[in-house]
Amino acid sequence: MFADRVLSGMRPTGRMHIGHYHGALRNWIRLQEEHECLFFAADWHALTTHFDETESIADTTWEMFVDWLAAGLDPTRATLFIQSRVPEHAELTLLLGMITPVGWLERVPTYKDQQQSLADRDLSNYGFLGYPVMQSADILIYRANMVPVGEDQVSHIELTRELARRFNHIYGQETGFEDKAKAAVKKLGAKKAKRYNEMRAAFQEKGDEAALAAARELLEDTQNLSLGDRERLFGWLEGARRVILPEPQPLLTTSPRVPGLDGDKMSKSRGNAIFLREDPAEVTRKVRTMQTDPARVRRTDPGNPERCPVWSLHQVYSDQATRDWVWKGCTTAGIGCLECKQPVIDAIIREQAPMHERAQKYLDDPQLVRNIVADGCEKARGMAEETMGDVREAMGLGYG
Ligand code: TRP
Ligand code: SF4
Repeated sequence: MFADRVLSGMRPTGRMHIGHYHGALRNWIRLQEEHECLFFAADWHALTTHFDETESIADTTWEMFVDWLAAGLDPTRATLFIQSRVPEHAELTLLLGMITPVGWLERVPTYKDQQQSLADRDLSNYGFLGYPVMQSADILIYRANMVPVGEDQVSHIELTRELARRFNHIYGQETGFEDKAKAAVKKLGAKKAKRYNEMRAAFQEKGDEAALAAARELLEDTQNLSLGDRERLFGWLEGARRVILPEPQPLLTTSPRVPGLDGDKMSKSRGNAIFLREDPAEVTRKVRTMQTDPARVRRTDPGNPERCPVWSLHQVYSDQATRDWVWKGCTTAGIGCLECKQPVIDAIIREQAPMHERAQKYLDDPQLVRNIVADGCEKARGMAEETMGDVREAMGLGYG
């Protein structure tokens, strides 16, 4: 239950661009090699801000999946699904809502920030205030412990952790907990039981965090425990509660920022994006017309790469030798801007060649994508249902 599990989602915004690739997808593709992964289209999250623009959600969702697959997400390694096709997300959102103080949500920094940056939208709706509760449900319903996100999402993961703690505190109580926990310790076998008890004491008596981590690891490596006993043993390490919903950690994506063609944040709606699977001629055209250091008017003017978005692309796409060449050539007017841009153009086209190739079979047969996602939804639903069984029961809603 508490083995490593990665989960992340993206709101469907249509075609993916190189900002999505370097900001998230590349990281996801790396993670799928090493961990169990779930990635989903957060279509309900899209509704929190765009409830009045629903005619294109389905199309943009399918387009997004084609890009994910083209970029290299492998459906045999990662489970790909759609949030709204796993309605248990809504049930957990509703239940978590009961224990979420409204003040916590009003204090989430993205709440006011988004209201300001999307000032043309009406964001006074209940669903938008609840955005991070729904995100918490997305994560907790799979008991995911690793959540790859950008910096802007860290406050949401922090809220998820607080909600998990609060949930376990309120609903993890159980009559006879201590006896049940001690009985579960015995089931570990003599050797592991002794180590578990020692590490638990080291944490509880001396606050030894390393011992806590080691004890958790020991539990993760133990296969023959029932779900209930597992929850008890995780919970007993820290106190007298079961851990029904474990706290996740954010995995920060650290790659450098990808600027748009005008130097602002890259986004489809700003019209400054280089898409994945872009036509090579179009990549060339876009980069060649891209904004440069505004002070470099003539070829003979030296430039300052720090003021040029092309330089930011070199951080993403070029090796050290090329970057040295750019820096020197720009600051001494030794190279022209078109010359400077060429290695970036070449690198983007090279990066996208295998994406075009991988996408072809999905473009030829859209049913393939439908099938992959249908399988993913079914698999995700099975996992979500398992957690919901525990959640309903812990909350006194187990009418079995
Ligand atoms: N809020 C995320 C974003 O805008 C998308 C998202 C929804 C998500 N649910 C999630 C990310 C759960 C990680 C985990 O990028
Ligand atoms: Fe930007 Fe390169 Fe032109 Fe310098 S030479 S201003 S870094 S595009």
